[in-house]
Amino acid sequence: MVQQHESEESHMNITPNIGIRICGTGSSVPAKTVTNDDMATIVETSDEWISTRTGIRKRHFADGETNLSLGAEAAERALEMAGISREAIGAVICATITPDHIVPSQACLLQKKLGLPEQILAFDICAACTGFLYSLHTARSLLCTMPEKKYALVVASELLSRVTNFADRNTCVLFGDGAGAAVIALDENSRYAFDCGAQGDTEVLYCPKSYPNTNPFAESQSEQPVQQVHMEGRAVYSFAVHALSGCISRVSEAAGGFPQHYVCHQANARILQAAAKQLGEPMDKFFLDIADYGNTSAASIAIALDDCVRSGGIQRGESLILAGFGGGLSYGAAYLTF
Ligand code: ACO
Repeated sequence: MVQQHESEESHMNITPNIGIRICGTGSSVPAKTVTNDDMATIVETSDEWISTRTGIRKRHFADGETNLSLGAEAAERALEMAGISREAIGAVICATITPDHIVPSQACLLQKKLGLPEQILAFDICAACTGFLYSLHTARSLLCTMPEKKYALVVASELLSRVTNFADRNTCVLFGDGAGAAVIALDENSRYAFDCGAQGDTEVLYCPKSYPNTNPFAESQSEQPVQQVHMEGRAVYSFAVHALSGCISRVSEAAGGFPQHYVCHQANARILQAAAKQLGEPMDKFFLDIADYGNTSAASIAIALDDCVRSGGIQRGESLILAGFGGGLSYGAAYLTF
């Protein structure tokens, strides 16, 4: 069962403190676009059902692209916008639930492909749709401990098509593939507050990992589960609205008020509308690009942030909340100045 109220402990995570500056953003999606009408050729659904229930009109599915190729392209764009020396990067973190390998991590692969320095912390974070938030906060914490390195690179890259059950209309119409990235630095003059939480749950949203059992000494041979996302949509919906409005109101309170903009996980436009209503905030402060990409899990906030920045939706010095929720179950929000 999903708990409807986050524990009081989540309030302990709020740390208004030294802020971060987003120096550059980037994103990349596969070339292949799949419309709602295309989805209706494989499962019993319609453009009308998908767009009115979720806001999604199309998504991108990999056809040759990899987690690394998308992540690296997004990162190159973020590095180009930031205009920094790669030698000044002290950490590269990749948020993903769909890596190309178990080992090496996506972050190690990115270190090589992007020509990042060898003296770098490189690792992946598995926190589903909250992965970019967890990674951003971790990167900020690491930068606080390494004064000799000025920047961290946070990448979020997903190929959800790898773990989608294309026979299940309840889930397959929701997901898409893509990657986003951000180069961040510490900024003493910028306001920062963070809140996050986790409610371990294996019933309403999960994706089993299957390893073939090749151990010759094992007496019991367990059946390998199918590696596909399973989701109880209504239960996750209720959790999402509650978790999103809860962590947004806590970071806003810690930061001294609501921000000028929200860039949230793009799972369902109705979830954002319901959260906005609970918060008493106007919907036009919430950036929406779900129509073009669907739910890209960890990548979704990073892609939306890049779209928002590049379309002029947010200007330097304006305040912003990034917020996410999803598998874990997990949730998180960060208040910062762009
Ligand atoms: N096309 C047509 N009909 C469909 C489809 C479809 N693709 N999918 C489900 N239906 C049907 C159902 O079978 C059901 O029919 P019934 O009433 O005859 O049983 C009916 O539509 C209504 O189904 P609901 O599940 O109640 O639809 P709902 O309005 O709740 O919308 C949705 C479903 C979009 C999944 C919504 O619940 C949702 O967005 N949930 C949250 C998802 C989310 O935020 N996930 C985040 C994490 S994802 C991650 O971590 C990777």
